[in-house]
Amino acid sequence: MAPKTAPKLTGTELVHADDELVHGREVAASISVTTTFRAPLPPDNTPINTDSMDFRSPERHVYSRYTQDVSTRAERVLSKINGGLALTYASGLAASYAALVYFHPKRIAITGGYHGCHNTIEVYKHSRGGDLPLIGLDDDYQPGDLCWLETPLNPTGEARDIKYYAEKAHAAGAKIIVDSTFAPPPLQYPFKWGADMVMHSGTKYFGGHSDLLCGVLIVPTEADWKTLWTHRTFLGSMMGSLESWLLLRSLRTLHLRVPRQSENAKGLARWLSQAAGGKAFDGIPAGVIDTVWHSSLQKKDGRGFEPSVQLEGGWNPTFAILLKDPEYARLLPHSLEYFVPATSLGGVESLIEQRSTVDPGADPRLVRISCGVEDLEDMKKDLRRAFREIVKPRARL
Ligand SMILES: Cc1ncc(COP(=O)(O)O)c(C=O)c1O
Repeated sequence: MAPKTAPKLTGTELVHADDELVHGREVAASISVTTTFRAPLPPDNTPINTDSMDFRSPERHVYSRYTQDVSTRAERVLSKINGGLALTYASGLAASYAALVYFHPKRIAITGGYHGCHNTIEVYKHSRGGDLPLIGLDDDYQPGDLCWLETPLNPTGEARDIKYYAEKAHAAGAKIIVDSTFAPPPLQYPFKWGADMVMHSGTKYFGGHSDLLCGVLIVPTEADWKTLWTHRTFLGSMMGSLESWLLLRSLRTLHLRVPRQSENAKGLARWLSQAAGGKAFDGIPAGVIDTVWHSSLQKKDGRGFEPSVQLEGGWNPTFAILLKDPEYARLLPHSLEYFVPATSLGGVESLIEQRSTVDPGADPRLVRISCGVEDLEDMKKDLRRAFREIVKPRARL
């Protein structure tokens, strides 16, 4: 299948894609918290056909569980930059649940990735009386299956081949959703490689400031969008009004933040990788780093997959390192000045965590790093100092 064309992420669109939805004189979007809207006078006594109404029009908002001003504007921008039609949700996992309800899969093909999505699948499975077999991504698919492809992967930041899994799914009569949270525009455009639906935890790069929870689903057609929107209205899983305002404000600078975060990750992963295998390098002491994972360091797989083709706009800003000792992984996040010891990713500030503190299945030596927009040399300096600190013999903290 020839790749479809992807939109180009432009600052002009991020700033102006929602211009026609502005109906006041303000320059910055106003915070709108109203849950309900003044109704227009009905034209006559004939029953109103709500099916033919577009509630996204500023004149037609009825109730904020359906639509409201600012989330509609944020969805307009998200649609434009993702090359489809976007709908926002209360969180990434609320969006994942909505995707499961939408596809109603016979089975789900999933291997690894964010543990929270596996838990959401378990909740959904429960709602079906346990009737939802799970298979591996590389098992054989059947009609009605859903391939759940997360790429790049949480926590290692390694990339998977969307085109390969899309072709495999479609050849079997199955569908594919791509969780592209780790690679927002302009890094990766999953529709270009055959995705049927794209999912993001908007909490991460779209939000970008560690201050809002949001999920996003993007679909190719108006009919798909309408179905999702109807489901969202009756699942009640829309994003909060205040969050929508934070999201719209943040989207304006996505093209400035993400490429900078991506460059920082590329530089940091390359630098750290030179100390892999326990080598001493550029002030990093010997015996600290075992392995560094990142899409930029990934070797071609047996099928010849080259991650830079699909990560066309740059490398993902989040990746992981395996330290030699779990004690180093416990101490490192708390020995840094600029990196904040915290879970999540995508914010302007760099975050670092011993992954097993939030994901019990993770190797206790694994540390995940989310690169922010600080200066790379300062990030290296901070890490260099912290590595030297954690290898010092000391009483346990
Ligand atoms: C890859 C991935 N998908 C989905 C989610 C869930 O998003 P949220 O926390 O917004 O529900 C996360 C959260 O970390 C994630 O990393």
